[in-house]
Formats: sequence, C-alpha cells, structure tokens
Amino acid sequence: MEYLFELSGEQPKLAKAEVKALIEAYQVEYKIREELTNLLIIKTNDKLEKSFFKRLGYTHSVLKHITSAKKLNDVLKDIENISSNKKFCVRAKRIKNNLKKISAKEAEERIGAIIKGPIDLENPKKVFKLFLTDQNLVFGEQIIKINRKEYRKRKPHKRPFFKPGAIKPELARACINLTRVRDGAILDVFSGTGSFLIEANDMDISSVGVDASLKMLKGSKKNQKLTKNKKNSLILADSRKTPFKPHSFEAIIADPPYGRSSTVYGDISDLYNQTIREALRNLKKGGYLCFISPKEGVDLKVDTNEIERYKVRVHRSLTRIIRVIRRRSSEL
Ligand SMILES: C[S@@+](CC[C@H](N)C(=O)[O-])C[C@H]1O[C@@H](n2cnc3c(N)ncnc32)[C@H](O)[C@@H]1O
Repeated sequence: MEYLFELSGEQPKLAKAEVKALIEAYQVEYKIREELTNLLIIKTNDKLEKSFFKRLGYTHSVLKHITSAKKLNDVLKDIENISSNKKFCVRAKRIKNNLKKISAKEAEERIGAIIKGPIDLENPKKVFKLFLTDQNLVFGEQIIKINRKEYRKRKPHKRPFFKPGAIKPELARACINLTRVRDGAILDVFSGTGSFLIEANDMDISSVGVDASLKMLKGSKKNQKLTKNKKNSLILADSRKTPFKPHSFEAIIADPPYGRSSTVYGDISDLYNQTIREALRNLKKGGYLCFISPKEGVDLKVDTNEIERYKVRVHRSLTRIIRVIRRRSSEL
C-alpha cells in the first residue's frame, strides 16, 4: 500500500521529517516512493492506524495513493476501473502555482465523470484528491483529514495562560514526533506555559514538565485543561539538576530561554550545555532529545550524537534551530 501525505507548506522540511520519525517510532518498514512539494508518498506493507495520523502536526490529510502521472489523460486511463458505492467527490488542488495550463475545475469534472458511483459535492462520504505539483499529477483516495481547527483553538494566545515565545501546537507536535516517542513518557525540561505537555496529552503520551519558575508551573497547570487526557505531572526543578533516576525517559524536549526576553536562571551557555548533559543522563539508551535553540549566539560544547537539524522560522524576526540528538549506548 502507498500512503500519500498532504503536508502543510508552512514548514516543508519539518513536515516530512516528522512523518519519517513517526514511522520509525512505530517500527514500520517503508520506502520513500516520491518526495514532491508539500507531498510525501511512502510504500509499506504495514497498515498505519488513524491514531498514527492524528499525531501529526504538519499534515493536512493522508490518502491512499492511486496513481501519479505527467498528463491528465494518463491519470484518467489509470482510474478507469475505480468505482465508489458511497457518495463521492473529487477535489483538485494546485500546489504553489504548478501546472497552470491544467484547469483544476476541468480535472475534477473529468475524473468525476470516470469514477463509477454517486457524486455528492456537498456531503460526500468519500473524497478523491488530485494534486498538481512539480509537473506531476498525483491522485489518491482520502483516508483521513486532520482536524486542524483543534490546533487553532489551542494557539498560544488563546490559552488561559499566555507568555510570548510559547510554542504553537503544530510545532510542538512535530518536535514530540521527532523524539520518536511512542508509549513511554516524555520529559519537557523547560515546560513554560506547557505547550508540549498540552499536545502530548492530546497525543495520548504521558509527560513530565519541569520548570524553575513556580508561576510558570501554575500557569501551565491551567493550560492543561485544554485537553482531555491528563497524564502529566509538573515539577519545580532546575533543568541542570533534575530529581530523576538515570535513564528514566524515552524522550526529552528542551526549549530553553533565549536570553533577555525570558527568565534565565544562570549563564545561558552553561545552562544549555549542562541541560544537554543532564538530559543525556535522563535518557534511556537510544532515546532522543529534541533541543530547540536560537539561530546564533550559543556555543554548544557537549559532544552529542546529533542526527538531524532543522532551521525553523517562527516569525519574521525569530528563527530557531531544532536539533535531534540520540543518546549513544556508550553514554553514561
Ligand atoms: C522559552 S521558555 C519555554 C517555553 C515553552 N516551551 C512554552 O511553549 O511555553 C523557557 C522556560 O524555561 C524556564 N527556565 C529558565 N531557566 C530554567 C532552568 N534552569 N531550569 C528549568 N527551567 C528554567 C523559564 O521559567 C521558562 O518558563
């Protein structure tokens, strides 16, 4: 089976990376079939569950990939035998002004005329989608549309407790997914307003939040009411010296303060380096740390097994570097 992921254009690299990381977390064998602008097609013999798709932050929908072609006529030939016993509709979506010579409306009508079954544009029970991207027409049947309205409801400024610098739900989910956490608990060592804890809750992952500020912990507790499952605890502690037994966590997130704008308990470089050392002590063998830092100005001295790095523009003037670090088995 081939799965087609329709990705958000907001963070294209991160969108693909989180899908791949999550597939690893679920220990699914797969091959990348195609990577296009805002689309990722993977081939696997395993069935991916809805709970898997619902974890994704930067995916709009997931489809069963049916065909890809350079010309509309070729797509039409490939789908000659498709039928639907449920009411269906066809939607064509142009990605970044690609293939302008093909009319999306005409493509929808011609495909709709070939698929056998009842068409219902208002209330379809099945949705077929055609994407026009990178000189390719990619066609599939939708398995799930991710309910991104829920993410919008939990945007930082809509939460009961808000502080500038709080992480958006989509980014929080992507970072959690990059840690490849599946059933274990995730530790957030700078939990702040609780952005990662809220999303971990929603993803059914238990979490522990640490912050050196009691005010932040109290605010974060209020924010936890935004999601149903409450499998988290909050601890007043210093990220450099946490009260956990070594190797207690499968995954750790660290979104440290960036200097003047937020409260810094100690020298910023020391804080970063000592936090990474402590996180490596807290991680299980093979566990992952997702470390977020500003673009410049911090000298990371700890020798780590960094496996991935992404540059994310949070808004016009703020760029963050997201590092994924894997604890080596030799690390104490
Ligand atoms: C950038 S904010 C985290 C934002 C958080 N990810 C969110 O979305 O709200 C950094 C947090 O680290 C906390 N902090 C600063 N120094 C700390 C330390 N040494 N140990 C633990 N927390 C610390 C601050 O109180 C602040 O809440």
